Amino acid sequence: MLAVMGAMEEEIALFREAMDDVKKNQKAGLTFYQGKIDGKKIILVHCGIGKVNAAICTQILIDDYGVDNIIFTGVAGALAASLDVLDVVVSTDCIQHDLNVHAFGYEPGTVPRLNKKEFAADDALVQLALESGKNIEGFPQIIQGRILSGDEFIADKDRALNLADEFNGHCVEMEGAAVAQACYLNNIPFVIIRAMSDKADGTADVDFPKFVQKAANNSLALVREMLKNL
Ligand code: ADE
Repeated sequence: MLAVMGAMEEEIALFREAMDDVKKNQKAGLTFYQGKIDGKKIILVHCGIGKVNAAICTQILIDDYGVDNIIFTGVAGALAASLDVLDVVVSTDCIQHDLNVHAFGYEPGTVPRLNKKEFAADDALVQLALESGKNIEGFPQIIQGRILSGDEFIADKDRALNLADEFNGHCVEMEGAAVAQACYLNNIPFVIIRAMSDKADGTADVDFPKFVQKAANNSLALVREMLKNL
């Protein structure tokens, strides 16, 4: 079964409202909605904000529901200069920008002993997302890019520039790389879809609440189009 995951209620609300035959289950403070959207069976959940919540939720989806594909949908702060608010990034790969064991010789972002820094998204899901975007008239720019994740809301221009530079990242959020690592460890294909709610700069705290719903709905519109061809 396919899982559609977001971090916040706002990021999955449209899908929850559009689902039929819904069955609800709870675990670890999370609510899992099993049902159909446009006739397709999915499981929908919002995991909460941050990498710990995202990892816990991903493992439950795999263990308890046997999901075999995960699409994560939501918003992010833009790092790439070419990205505007509401534009969409489809993950090529994800890095945890706040993981640093440099003292023992590991490059920043590398998971110690696993010796892995970039967690690659599933190519077929990436291509499906890019193709699906072309079917939606008037959809904002979609790019393929690297998603940086960390337990920090970035709202500072210099910090954003440094992150973009250090990790070659296109946008920054707080869950994607945790989902990616959990999927890697369980051999589950995934893709992260993120619409820009802000530019991770000094006005991000004002832009985020202003654009979060519209951006979240853009990302969901793309996922809904993807489901038609899955
Ligand atoms: N999600 C949306 N905007 C973000 C930002 N600026 N930093 C981290 N996560 C985000």
